[in-house]
Amino acid sequence: MKTLFEATTIKGRTLKNRLFRSATWERLADGDGRLTPQLLHVYKDLAQGGVGAIITSALYAEARAGALPGQLGLYDAAGLDGHRRLVATAREAGALILAQLAFAGRDGVLWTANDPTPAVLAGLPDYFARGAALAREAGYDGVQIHSAHGYFLSQFLSPAANSRTDAYGGSSEGRRALLMAIYAAVRREVGEDFLLAVKLDCRDMHETPGVFEECLGAAKALDAAGIDLVEVSGLGGNKGICGGKKQVQSVFRAEAAAVAEAIAAPVILVGANRSPAGMEAIVNETAIAYFALSRPLLRQPDLPARWLAGSTETAACVSCGKCYDEAGNGCFFVRNAAKAAMA
Ligand SMILES: Cc1cc2nc3c(=O)[nH]c(=O)nc-3n(C[C@H](O)[C@H](O)[C@H](O)COP(=O)(O)O)c2cc1C
Repeated sequence: MKTLFEATTIKGRTLKNRLFRSATWERLADGDGRLTPQLLHVYKDLAQGGVGAIITSALYAEARAGALPGQLGLYDAAGLDGHRRLVATAREAGALILAQLAFAGRDGVLWTANDPTPAVLAGLPDYFARGAALAREAGYDGVQIHSAHGYFLSQFLSPAANSRTDAYGGSSEGRRALLMAIYAAVRREVGEDFLLAVKLDCRDMHETPGVFEECLGAAKALDAAGIDLVEVSGLGGNKGICGGKKQVQSVFRAEAAAVAEAIAAPVILVGANRSPAGMEAIVNETAIAYFALSRPLLRQPDLPARWLAGSTETAACVSCGKCYDEAGNGCFFVRNAAKAAMA
């Protein structure tokens, strides 16, 4: 019988439990994408709250690739000190930490998949490799390539969003060519020891037919190429699933289980994971190895520690979708409680 709180190892790096903090845009970096005291505080709370691994918010690795206000960057030596502090914060608490690397945004924030010329796309593997090199220099345990939620890379995998007729579209192989080239460039840059993860959509916001098949195909191809972790997500991430519409618990269980059956790399299931008993059942009934949480840890960063101490409580997060705030994303209820305490 497997448990949520048993330790596992990937390439010699130990995860003290099966829980990840899924990448979550905090909107707390300064105008240059640098660490602020408030942002560091978020990571301290997370690390001390007992989660096994933290995936940072989506980072941009070049100023022109930023897509969100208050987004953290990882693009030059001057920013490394801030990232080293995030890494130290995780490590002191015994948590792994991976940097999520993203390029541009969704729905054509900067570009859609159909806009850039092949020459521009040919430069993207280097963009991710440079970001990964900086992440390794900062001490991260690995990087996650953000190819989900309608963001730029995920558009390539979508038969609906990608209408290219060149080498980057037209067939499943073409649609995943960019992702595969990025993976290869990053791996070449950072070597075998650094953890490489990817976040993929198994369903999009419009439930477009074929998205799951592309996800499975990409996961298999990345697995054959040596990926270390595959996170299965969908329904638009912070734009869709987090919009307040209720979802069944562990909403992508079936898709993630099918991916986990098909590949050797461990699979992380994200999306409406709320109950420790539910997750423990999944880890025993399927080949899914890990669970990622975003919104529950905005409300209760110490939830993993509470579960470890024996609590069987379901996460207090009600998936209300009110996590977004110009002063910094976070839980609506925590924000209101803080305001009430100040009044
Ligand atoms: C405020 C907020 C910011 C998010 N930012 C990111 C992000 O930077 N990168 C990413 O891949 N997903 C992001 N997500 C999506 C989450 O990682 C996760 O996939 C989604 O919230 C579903 O998980 P949950 O039900 O545990 O919240 C964000 C979600 C929220 C609520």
